[in-house]
Amino acid sequence: MQKGLASSRLRRYPLNNVFELIETKRDGKRLNPSQIEWFIKGATSRRIPDYQVTAMLMAIFFNGLDRDELSAWTAAMLHSGEVLDFGHLDSSVVDKHSTGGVGDKVSIPLAPLVAACGVSVPMMSGRGLGHTGGTLDKLESIPGFSTQLDSDTFKTMVATHGMVLAGQSETLVPADRLFYALRDATATVPSIPLISSSIMSKKLAEGLDALVLDVKVGSGAFMKDLGSARTLAKTMVDIGASHGVAVSALLTGMDQPLGREVGNANEIRESVEVLRGEGPADLTELVLELGAEMLLTGSAAQSREEAQDRIRSAVDSGAGLQKLADVVTAQGGDANALEDLALLPSAEENMTINADRSGIVARCDAHAIGVAAMRLGAGRETAADKVDHAVGIRVLAKIGDRVEAGEALAALSYNNPARLATATAILSEAWSIVDGPVDVPPLILETIR
Ligand code: URA
Repeated sequence: MQKGLASSRLRRYPLNNVFELIETKRDGKRLNPSQIEWFIKGATSRRIPDYQVTAMLMAIFFNGLDRDELSAWTAAMLHSGEVLDFGHLDSSVVDKHSTGGVGDKVSIPLAPLVAACGVSVPMMSGRGLGHTGGTLDKLESIPGFSTQLDSDTFKTMVATHGMVLAGQSETLVPADRLFYALRDATATVPSIPLISSSIMSKKLAEGLDALVLDVKVGSGAFMKDLGSARTLAKTMVDIGASHGVAVSALLTGMDQPLGREVGNANEIRESVEVLRGEGPADLTELVLELGAEMLLTGSAAQSREEAQDRIRSAVDSGAGLQKLADVVTAQGGDANALEDLALLPSAEENMTINADRSGIVARCDAHAIGVAAMRLGAGRETAADKVDHAVGIRVLAKIGDRVEAGEALAALSYNNPARLATATAILSEAWSIVDGPVDVPPLILETIR
């Protein structure tokens, strides 16, 4: 009976009828490029109602998209809004995108270092949601700094300063804004074709020559295992190739937080430390590797050694820090806060989480620490929540470190005592301490090009 109903409806509908397209994907068959383009235009113009868009997203969630379909789906999303063009610039244009993690403040020191080496970086970032922080929230802890720029100001910043740090403009990839909101409400976010088309349509709309992806793997990441991270990375590299954009992906560990600081002003302080050459080893290494990859994919260096040397020189000469200060000033912020870190917001109260035994740290759970920071007020549980830029967690013991009973594992800064109890309850389970030797997980797992 179901079949009869479906086929009688089919006969009544013209080609490209929404029902027919949903049915095609529901039954695991292929959509052709013109059907995909028609569907995405209809969704973005809101001629197709949300319930049918959602049904299509669910059909893709279950049946996927093959290589050609995914390329067409991404292209149609990309062309749903404005596509930037930096063809008039002399430099190559390269961005970095991270799939998100805890303590991942890489973009903030990375963009000015790469821009100081002569590659333009139109860095479009997002806000934190759930246990992962967002670059825009971190930047907004710099007094006066504006992350919401119109499209003309965004382009002028890139032309004048060789970089910008801002949110996605309203005119870029409206299809993704709609799809992401519907996916978030209908349990269709964790799908490789939907994630990869969402990320890549936004990045391709920036008019890039090349893109470097940092695909996080581990407890604090979207992708919990290496296999799924690899598939996501390969899928995005492939989409880039089908659009003539060189994409490389570093798969990097996110079982423990990156660096030592988690929270908004906390992470600005640590970003400045990296630019001063005083950052923690893991964060500094990742900035160096991603920066070198950006110079290489942007054809601004002949070899990895040369690329790394140029990034190191931009740290040693202070050119990276100066570039960030110039951009902060141009975007309305107080660059004195990068000189005198005490000008950044700071919380009223402090406390520590202490080790209950002596030994070696075997687990320092990124997910738990990210959730605890969010509960302190550093992040959002819902998109409408306001963040507290001053609160955060300084991670004092990471995997492989030796600690004594009673020694501090983390230092919390907080404003609202009512939020503290949930955060400390989560943190009390976040570390495991053992007697024996511990394998420290590698930071960079592999590179896919
Ligand atoms: N980030 C995005 O931009 N899109 C997704 O679908 C998931 C993560």
